Amino acid sequence: MRILVLGGTGRIGSAVVRALLACGHDVVGLARSEASAAKLRQAGATVIGGDIAAPEAWIETLPHLDAVTHMACDFASDMAAVDRRLLDALLPALAAQPQRVRFIYTGGCWLFGETGVAPATEASPFRPLPAFAWMVPHLARVLGAAEIDGIVIHPAMVYAGADGVFGRFARDASARQAIRVVGGEAVRWPLVHSDDLAALYALALERAPKGESYIGAAVEALTVVRIARAFARRYGIAREAPEIISPGAIAAELGEWARGYALDQRLSGDKARRELGWQPRHLDPEADIARLA
Ligand SMILES: NC(=O)c1ccc[n+]([C@@H]2O[C@H](COP(=O)([O-])OP(=O)(O)OC[C@H]3O[C@@H](n4cnc5c(N)ncnc54)[C@H](OP(=O)(O)O)[C@@H]3O)[C@@H](O)[C@H]2O)c1
Repeated sequence: MRILVLGGTGRIGSAVVRALLACGHDVVGLARSEASAAKLRQAGATVIGGDIAAPEAWIETLPHLDAVTHMACDFASDMAAVDRRLLDALLPALAAQPQRVRFIYTGGCWLFGETGVAPATEASPFRPLPAFAWMVPHLARVLGAAEIDGIVIHPAMVYAGADGVFGRFARDASARQAIRVVGGEAVRWPLVHSDDLAALYALALERAPKGESYIGAAVEALTVVRIARAFARRYGIAREAPEIISPGAIAAELGEWARGYALDQRLSGDKARRELGWQPRHLDPEADIARLA
């Protein structure tokens, strides 16, 4: 397949680019800077220069495509408007392609809100974090678009080594006396390693029926305190017990979207395993942390 990748230099997207290339697909990456273009070329993708905030500038230059995976977002205050404008331009352009195009849209675990004891599934109602509420109508638009085969993947909290959602723990471990945990001792995160998530995107491109959504959670829930303690041990910092900070404190530091770090969530990845044959390999994040170089 020839696949246009939006966000192919990001935490999720760079793993997806590697996975798609490893499957033998032809990957075309959108790059908004020369640095991003160089990363994509180095990975083995071809590049189209352009910004998702100005789709009119590059949409006419698209080659014939079999699929699109969309994982681009800059988490700025206008991210909803940027994404809407992108869909306004991209969906008609894909509808005009000579063959039917598959489109994987990226949602997220934070659309499910606090979940309680029973894990959220693809059938659970959305209760989105306000900063990402705009995603719900956008993904409904992709799933319902008649002219394309729309599919949604909801990643759990994505980590890779000491990067992704683990990046903050690694930075705190290097720079502070204690690792900060947002919200409280009971907060749990669903987790997925970026390589496992990328394998799910590749499977969904090949096998998912139009209109289906899949939660990409390899681990249903792990208390964030356990993640913080694992980092404290691995980095050898004296105080293993984390420092609990408020959602307001992390929002002031990173933006309103970061309140999601305080959500207590349990998410099921069973549908992807059952229906797509997804077999995530990283099932013990604490062991992954212990093995960090
Ligand atoms: N990471 C998670 O744990 C997680 C979990 C659930 C859902 N999600 C969702 O997944 C999506 C991707 O997340 P991520 O963590 O992979 O983000 P990320 O690491 O920040 O990557 C974002 C990607 O989008 C690109 N991008 C941003 N603004 C762009 C623009 N205006 N034009 C073109 N490209 C642009 C970036 O390119 P540059 O190289 O140019 O910066 C980068 O490739 C987001 O929608 C996020 O909400 C993430």
